[in-house]
Amino acid sequence: EKAGFDHFMLKEIHEQPKAYRDTMGSRIDESGTKVILNEVKMTAEQVKSIQQVHIIACGTAYHAGLVGKSIIEKLARIPVETDVASEYRYRSPIITPNTLVIVVSQSGETADTLAALREAKRCGAHVVAITNVVGSSVAREADDVIVTWAGPEIAVASTKAYTSQLIAFYLFGLYLAQTLGSQDGEYIASVVTELKELPAKVEQILEQGEAFKDWAEQVASHNNLFFIGRGLDYAVALEGSLKLKEISYIHSEAYPAGELKHGTLALIEEGIPVIALATQDDLFEKTVSNIKEVKARGAYVFGLHSEGETELVKAVDQVFSIPNTLPLLSPALSVIPLQLLAYYASLARGNDVDKPRNLAKSVTVE
Ligand code: M6R
Repeated sequence: EKAGFDHFMLKEIHEQPKAYRDTMGSRIDESGTKVILNEVKMTAEQVKSIQQVHIIACGTAYHAGLVGKSIIEKLARIPVETDVASEYRYRSPIITPNTLVIVVSQSGETADTLAALREAKRCGAHVVAITNVVGSSVAREADDVIVTWAGPEIAVASTKAYTSQLIAFYLFGLYLAQTLGSQDGEYIASVVTELKELPAKVEQILEQGEAFKDWAEQVASHNNLFFIGRGLDYAVALEGSLKLKEISYIHSEAYPAGELKHGTLALIEEGIPVIALATQDDLFEKTVSNIKEVKARGAYVFGLHSEGETELVKAVDQVFSIPNTLPLLSPALSVIPLQLLAYYASLARGNDVDKPRNLAKSVTVE
Protein backbone atom coordinates (compact mmCIF):
# COMPACT_ATOMS: atom_id res chain seq x y z
CA GLU A 1 0.00 0.00 0.00
CA LYS A 2 3.06 2.25 0.02
CA ALA A 3 3.12 1.83 -3.76
CA GLY A 4 6.82 0.93 -3.81
CA PHE A 5 7.94 3.78 -1.56
CA ASP A 6 9.77 3.07 1.70
CA HIS A 7 7.44 5.25 3.73
CA PHE A 8 4.00 6.79 3.50
CA MET A 9 5.56 10.22 3.85
CA LEU A 10 7.67 9.79 0.71
CA LYS A 11 4.69 8.36 -1.16
CA GLU A 12 2.58 11.33 -0.10
CA ILE A 13 5.29 13.81 -1.09
CA HIS A 14 5.23 12.22 -4.55
CA GLU A 15 1.45 12.34 -4.72
CA GLN A 16 1.49 16.13 -4.61
CA PRO A 17 1.27 16.78 -8.37
CA LYS A 18 -1.89 14.67 -8.44
CA ALA A 19 -3.23 16.32 -5.29
CA TYR A 20 -2.75 19.76 -6.90
CA ARG A 21 -4.49 18.65 -10.10
CA ASP A 22 -7.38 17.02 -8.24
CA THR A 23 -7.87 20.00 -5.93
CA MET A 24 -7.95 22.41 -8.90
CA GLY A 25 -10.01 19.89 -10.90
CA SER A 26 -13.28 21.27 -12.13
CA ARG A 27 -12.80 24.46 -10.12
CA ILE A 28 -11.12 26.20 -13.06
CA ASP A 29 -13.41 27.02 -15.97
CA GLU A 30 -12.81 25.63 -19.46
CA SER A 31 -11.30 28.82 -20.79
CA GLY A 32 -8.66 28.57 -18.05
CA THR A 33 -9.19 32.17 -17.01
CA LYS A 34 -11.54 31.94 -14.04
CA VAL A 35 -12.30 30.01 -10.90
CA ILE A 36 -15.64 28.35 -10.24
CA LEU A 37 -16.36 27.47 -6.61
CA ASN A 38 -19.88 26.11 -6.70
CA GLU A 39 -19.53 24.68 -3.20
CA VAL A 40 -19.32 28.17 -1.71
CA LYS A 41 -22.90 29.26 -1.23
CA MET A 42 -22.29 32.84 -0.15
CA THR A 43 -24.24 35.39 -2.19
CA ALA A 44 -22.33 38.21 -3.91
CA GLU A 45 -23.94 40.53 -1.40
CA GLN A 46 -22.62 38.45 1.50
CA VAL A 47 -19.12 38.44 0.02
CA LYS A 48 -19.24 42.22 -0.41
CA SER A 49 -20.22 42.66 3.25
CA ILE A 50 -17.10 40.89 4.57
CA GLN A 51 -15.08 43.35 6.63
CA GLN A 52 -12.43 41.00 8.00
CA VAL A 53 -11.30 37.43 7.63
CA HIS A 54 -10.06 35.19 10.45
CA ILE A 55 -8.17 32.05 9.47
CA ILE A 56 -8.00 29.50 12.29
CA ALA A 57 -6.12 26.20 12.42
CA CYS A 58 -3.40 24.20 14.20
CA GLY A 59 0.10 23.07 13.24
CA THR A 60 0.74 22.68 9.56
CA ALA A 61 -2.78 23.81 8.70
CA TYR A 62 -2.00 27.04 10.60
CA HIS A 63 1.07 27.49 8.42
CA ALA A 64 -1.11 27.08 5.32
CA GLY A 65 -3.32 29.76 6.89
CA LEU A 66 -0.37 32.16 7.11
CA VAL A 67 0.09 31.80 3.36
CA GLY A 68 -3.70 32.13 3.02
CA LYS A 69 -3.53 35.51 4.75
CA SER A 70 -1.14 36.89 2.13
CA ILE A 71 -3.18 35.39 -0.70
CA ILE A 72 -6.49 36.90 0.44
CA GLU A 73 -5.01 40.27 1.37
CA LYS A 74 -3.28 40.54 -2.00
CA LEU A 75 -6.13 39.28 -4.17
CA ALA A 76 -9.21 40.51 -2.27
CA ARG A 77 -7.75 43.47 -0.33
CA ILE A 78 -9.63 42.48 2.85
CA PRO A 79 -7.78 42.49 6.22
CA VAL A 80 -6.94 38.97 7.39
CA GLU A 81 -5.77 37.61 10.73
CA THR A 82 -4.42 34.09 11.08
CA ASP A 83 -4.36 32.48 14.52
CA VAL A 84 -3.81 29.10 16.11
CA ALA A 85 -7.11 27.64 17.29
CA SER A 86 -5.97 27.00 20.89
CA GLU A 87 -5.16 30.71 21.28
CA TYR A 88 -8.04 32.16 19.31
CA ARG A 89 -10.79 30.37 21.17
CA TYR A 90 -9.68 31.64 24.58
CA ARG A 91 -8.89 35.26 23.76
CA SER A 92 -12.43 36.60 23.24
CA PRO A 93 -11.81 37.33 19.57
CA ILE A 94 -13.85 40.11 18.02
CA ILE A 95 -16.13 38.20 15.67
CA THR A 96 -19.08 39.95 14.04
CA PRO A 97 -21.61 38.83 11.42
CA ASN A 98 -19.35 40.63 8.91
CA THR A 99 -16.40 38.41 9.81
CA LEU A 100 -15.64 35.53 7.51
CA VAL A 101 -14.01 32.71 9.47
CA ILE A 102 -12.00 30.12 7.56
CA VAL A 103 -11.06 26.99 9.48
CA VAL A 104 -8.40 24.74 8.00
CA SER A 105 -8.06 21.11 9.05
CA GLN A 106 -6.81 18.09 7.18
CA SER A 107 -8.68 15.64 9.42
CA GLY A 108 -11.62 17.89 10.19
CA GLU A 109 -11.54 16.49 13.74
CA THR A 110 -9.00 18.66 15.57
CA ALA A 111 -10.61 19.58 18.90
CA ASP A 112 -9.41 23.18 19.17
CA THR A 113 -10.23 23.97 15.54
CA LEU A 114 -13.71 22.56 15.97
CA ALA A 115 -14.24 24.59 19.15
CA ALA A 116 -13.10 27.77 17.35
CA LEU A 117 -15.55 27.01 14.53
CA ARG A 118 -18.39 26.68 17.05
CA GLU A 119 -17.44 29.96 18.75
CA ALA A 120 -17.38 31.72 15.36
CA LYS A 121 -20.84 30.40 14.52
CA ARG A 122 -22.18 31.41 17.91
CA CYS A 123 -21.07 34.97 17.14
CA GLY A 124 -22.92 34.92 13.82
CA ALA A 125 -19.92 34.65 11.48
CA HIS A 126 -20.06 32.77 8.21
CA VAL A 127 -17.68 29.80 8.41
CA VAL A 128 -15.87 28.27 5.44
CA ALA A 129 -13.97 25.04 6.09
CA ILE A 130 -10.99 23.82 4.11
CA THR A 131 -10.68 20.12 4.91
CA ASN A 132 -9.48 16.88 3.41
CA VAL A 133 -12.17 14.69 4.92
CA VAL A 134 -15.67 14.80 3.47
CA GLY A 135 -18.19 14.24 6.25
CA SER A 136 -15.75 15.16 9.07
CA SER A 137 -17.03 17.16 12.06
CA VAL A 138 -15.60 20.40 10.68
CA ALA A 139 -17.14 19.72 7.26
CA ARG A 140 -20.54 18.99 8.80
CA GLU A 141 -20.64 22.08 11.00
CA ALA A 142 -19.25 24.73 8.65
CA ASP A 143 -21.53 26.79 6.40
CA ASP A 144 -19.45 26.08 3.29
CA VAL A 145 -16.82 23.43 2.65
CA ILE A 146 -13.93 23.48 0.21
CA VAL A 147 -12.61 19.93 0.07
CA THR A 148 -8.92 19.42 -0.65
CA TRP A 149 -8.70 16.34 -2.84
CA ALA A 150 -5.35 15.16 -1.50
CA GLY A 151 -6.61 11.65 -0.72
CA PRO A 152 -5.94 9.92 2.62
CA GLU A 153 -2.82 11.15 4.39
CA ILE A 154 -1.32 8.43 6.59
CA ALA A 155 2.09 9.81 7.67
CA VAL A 156 1.84 11.93 10.81
CA ALA A 157 3.90 14.65 9.11
CA SER A 158 1.56 16.48 6.80
CA THR A 159 2.77 17.12 3.24
CA LYS A 160 0.19 16.78 0.48
CA ALA A 161 -2.58 18.04 2.79
CA TYR A 162 -0.61 21.27 3.39
CA THR A 163 0.05 21.93 -0.28
CA SER A 164 -3.57 21.12 -1.21
CA GLN A 165 -4.65 23.64 1.43
CA LEU A 166 -2.48 26.21 -0.35
CA ILE A 167 -4.23 25.38 -3.64
CA ALA A 168 -7.60 25.79 -1.91
CA PHE A 169 -6.52 29.24 -0.67
CA TYR A 170 -5.42 30.30 -4.17
CA LEU A 171 -8.79 29.22 -5.55
CA PHE A 172 -10.71 30.91 -2.76
CA GLY A 173 -8.66 34.13 -3.01
CA LEU A 174 -9.32 34.26 -6.76
CA TYR A 175 -13.01 33.57 -6.18
CA LEU A 176 -13.20 36.51 -3.74
CA ALA A 177 -11.34 38.76 -6.18
CA GLN A 178 -13.72 37.82 -9.00
CA THR A 179 -16.77 38.46 -6.84
CA LEU A 180 -15.49 41.73 -5.43
CA GLY A 181 -13.92 43.00 -8.63
CA SER A 182 -10.79 43.75 -6.63
CA GLN A 183 -8.48 42.59 -9.48
CA ASP A 184 -8.88 42.90 -13.22
CA GLY A 185 -9.74 39.87 -15.31
CA GLU A 186 -6.39 39.82 -17.06
CA TYR A 187 -4.49 39.56 -13.79
CA ILE A 188 -6.82 36.83 -12.53
CA ALA A 189 -6.32 34.89 -15.77
CA SER A 190 -2.54 35.17 -15.41
CA VAL A 191 -2.65 33.74 -11.87
CA VAL A 192 -4.93 30.89 -13.02
CA THR A 193 -2.52 30.09 -15.88
CA GLU A 194 0.44 29.90 -13.50
CA LEU A 195 -1.57 27.87 -11.00
CA LYS A 196 -2.23 25.22 -13.63
CA GLU A 197 1.49 24.93 -14.30
CA LEU A 198 2.36 24.14 -10.68
CA PRO A 199 1.88 20.34 -10.80
CA ALA A 200 4.42 19.93 -13.63
CA LYS A 201 6.85 22.17 -11.74
CA VAL A 202 6.47 20.05 -8.60
CA GLU A 203 7.29 17.02 -10.77
CA GLN A 204 10.51 18.75 -11.86
CA ILE A 205 11.53 19.26 -8.22
CA LEU A 206 10.68 15.67 -7.32
CA GLU A 207 12.84 14.37 -10.17
CA GLN A 208 15.83 15.77 -8.30
CA GLY A 209 14.55 14.37 -5.00
CA GLU A 210 17.63 12.30 -4.23
CA ALA A 211 19.77 15.44 -4.42
CA PHE A 212 18.31 16.51 -1.11
CA LYS A 213 19.74 13.43 0.61
CA ASP A 214 23.27 14.84 0.87
CA TRP A 215 21.94 18.10 2.15
CA ALA A 216 19.85 16.27 4.77
CA GLU A 217 22.80 14.16 5.87
CA GLN A 218 24.84 17.29 6.50
CA VAL A 219 22.00 18.85 8.45
CA ALA A 220 21.35 15.65 10.45
CA SER A 221 24.70 15.92 12.21
CA HIS A 222 23.68 19.22 13.85
CA ASN A 223 21.46 19.80 16.85
CA ASN A 224 20.40 23.34 16.05
CA LEU A 225 19.68 25.28 12.94
CA PHE A 226 17.75 28.20 11.49
CA PHE A 227 15.38 28.78 8.64
CA ILE A 228 15.15 32.38 7.48
CA GLY A 229 13.05 34.21 4.92
CA ARG A 230 10.88 37.28 4.36
CA GLY A 231 7.20 37.52 3.49
CA LEU A 232 5.86 34.28 2.06
CA ASP A 233 9.31 32.75 2.39
CA TYR A 234 9.00 33.25 6.14
CA ALA A 235 5.64 31.45 6.20
CA VAL A 236 7.22 28.50 4.35
CA ALA A 237 10.24 28.63 6.67
CA LEU A 238 7.89 28.03 9.61
CA GLU A 239 6.49 24.95 7.91
CA GLY A 240 9.96 23.65 6.98
CA SER A 241 11.09 24.07 10.56
CA LEU A 242 8.06 22.27 12.01
CA LYS A 243 8.49 19.38 9.57
CA LEU A 244 12.15 18.99 10.50
CA LYS A 245 11.46 19.11 14.26
CA GLU A 246 8.55 16.72 14.03
CA ILE A 247 10.32 13.81 12.36
CA SER A 248 14.08 14.37 12.72
CA TYR A 249 13.92 15.73 16.32
CA ILE A 250 16.50 18.37 15.35
CA HIS A 251 15.82 21.69 16.97
CA SER A 252 15.30 24.50 14.51
CA GLU A 253 13.82 27.92 14.54
CA ALA A 254 12.22 29.82 11.69
CA TYR A 255 12.90 33.52 11.74
CA PRO A 256 11.87 36.52 9.65
CA ALA A 257 15.22 37.37 8.06
CA GLY A 258 15.00 41.05 8.94
CA GLU A 259 14.31 40.30 12.60
CA LEU A 260 17.50 38.35 13.32
CA LYS A 261 19.53 41.35 14.36
CA HIS A 262 17.02 42.12 17.10
CA GLY A 263 18.35 39.31 19.24
CA THR A 264 18.63 35.93 17.56
CA LEU A 265 21.78 36.81 15.64
CA ALA A 266 23.60 36.21 18.95
CA LEU A 267 23.02 32.48 18.43
CA ILE A 268 24.78 32.34 15.07
CA GLU A 269 28.17 30.74 15.49
CA GLU A 270 30.76 28.93 13.38
CA GLY A 271 29.27 26.13 11.29
CA ILE A 272 25.61 26.47 12.27
CA PRO A 273 23.38 25.60 9.29
CA VAL A 274 21.04 28.34 8.08
CA ILE A 275 18.48 27.53 5.44
CA ALA A 276 17.67 30.75 3.62
CA LEU A 277 14.63 31.06 1.39
CA ALA A 278 14.90 33.82 -1.19
CA THR A 279 12.16 33.27 -3.75
CA GLN A 280 10.37 36.61 -3.42
CA ASP A 281 11.63 39.00 -6.11
CA ASP A 282 10.77 42.23 -4.34
CA LEU A 283 12.47 41.11 -1.11
CA PHE A 284 15.44 39.38 -2.70
CA GLU A 285 18.08 42.05 -2.11
CA LYS A 286 17.00 42.48 1.50
CA THR A 287 17.20 38.73 2.16
CA VAL A 288 20.64 38.56 0.55
CA SER A 289 21.91 41.22 2.94
CA ASN A 290 20.60 39.14 5.88
CA ILE A 291 22.36 36.09 4.44
CA LYS A 292 25.59 38.10 4.41
CA GLU A 293 25.07 38.95 8.07
CA VAL A 294 24.85 35.29 9.11
CA LYS A 295 27.69 34.27 6.77
CA ALA A 296 29.92 36.90 8.34
CA ARG A 297 29.34 35.17 11.70
CA GLY A 298 30.33 31.75 10.40
CA ALA A 299 26.97 30.21 9.40
CA TYR A 300 26.89 27.57 6.68
CA VAL A 301 24.09 28.72 4.37
CA PHE A 302 21.87 26.59 2.17
CA GLY A 303 19.97 28.92 -0.15
CA LEU A 304 16.71 28.27 -1.96
CA HIS A 305 15.85 30.53 -4.88
CA SER A 306 13.98 30.70 -8.15
CA GLU A 307 15.75 29.55 -11.30
CA GLY A 308 17.90 32.15 -12.97
CA GLU A 309 18.58 34.18 -9.84
CA THR A 310 22.35 33.82 -10.05
CA GLU A 311 23.08 36.46 -7.43
CA LEU A 312 22.32 34.04 -4.59
CA VAL A 313 24.96 31.55 -5.72
CA LYS A 314 27.73 33.94 -4.64
CA ALA A 315 26.20 34.65 -1.26
CA VAL A 316 25.65 31.09 0.00
CA ASP A 317 27.54 27.80 0.46
CA GLN A 318 25.05 25.58 -1.37
CA VAL A 319 22.12 26.53 -3.50
CA PHE A 320 18.93 24.81 -4.68
CA SER A 321 16.68 26.29 -7.29
CA ILE A 322 12.98 25.87 -7.82
CA PRO A 323 11.20 26.53 -11.13
CA ASN A 324 10.02 30.09 -11.74
CA THR A 325 6.47 31.07 -10.87
CA LEU A 326 4.63 34.12 -9.58
CA PRO A 327 5.98 35.14 -6.15
CA LEU A 328 2.48 34.62 -4.70
CA LEU A 329 2.52 30.97 -5.82
CA SER A 330 6.08 30.10 -4.80
CA PRO A 331 5.14 28.48 -1.43
CA ALA A 332 3.54 25.64 -3.41
CA LEU A 333 7.00 24.88 -4.82
CA SER A 334 9.50 26.01 -2.20
CA VAL A 335 8.07 23.80 0.53
CA ILE A 336 8.81 20.61 -1.45
CA PRO A 337 12.62 20.66 -0.92
CA LEU A 338 11.98 21.34 2.79
CA GLN A 339 9.68 18.30 3.05
CA LEU A 340 12.39 16.17 1.43
CA LEU A 341 15.01 17.65 3.74
CA ALA A 342 12.96 16.64 6.79
CA TYR A 343 12.29 13.19 5.35
CA TYR A 344 15.93 12.38 4.59
CA ALA A 345 17.16 13.94 7.87
CA SER A 346 14.75 11.70 9.78
CA LEU A 347 16.00 8.68 7.84
CA ALA A 348 19.63 9.64 8.47
CA ARG A 349 18.89 9.72 12.18
CA GLY A 350 17.22 6.31 12.09
CA ASN A 351 13.84 7.60 13.26
CA ASP A 352 10.41 6.19 12.59
CA VAL A 353 9.55 8.60 9.77
CA ASP A 354 5.83 7.91 9.54
CA LYS A 355 5.17 7.69 13.28
CA PRO A 356 7.30 10.20 15.15
CA ARG A 357 7.47 9.92 18.92
CA ASN A 358 4.87 11.65 21.11
CA LEU A 359 2.60 12.61 18.22
CA ALA A 360 -0.77 11.49 16.85
CA LYS A 361 -2.13 12.01 13.35
CA SER A 362 -5.34 13.56 14.58
CA VAL A 363 -5.40 15.65 17.76
CA THR A 364 -8.87 15.23 19.22
CA VAL A 365 -7.87 16.32 22.75
CA GLU A 366 -7.59 19.96 23.83
O1 M6R B 1 -6.02 17.53 10.97
P1 M6R B 1 -5.50 18.94 11.19
O2 M6R B 1 -5.10 19.58 9.90
O3 M6R B 1 -6.50 19.79 11.93
O4 M6R B 1 -4.23 18.78 12.06
C1 M6R B 1 -3.55 19.90 12.55
C2 M6R B 1 -2.18 19.54 13.10
O5 M6R B 1 -2.30 18.65 14.17
C3 M6R B 1 -1.26 18.92 12.04
O6 M6R B 1 -1.14 19.75 10.91
C4 M6R B 1 0.15 18.68 12.60
O7 M6R B 1 0.76 19.90 12.88
C5 M6R B 1 0.97 17.84 11.62
N1 M6R B 1 1.40 16.62 12.25
C6 M6R B 1 2.20 18.55 11.09
O8 M6R B 1 2.89 17.79 10.17
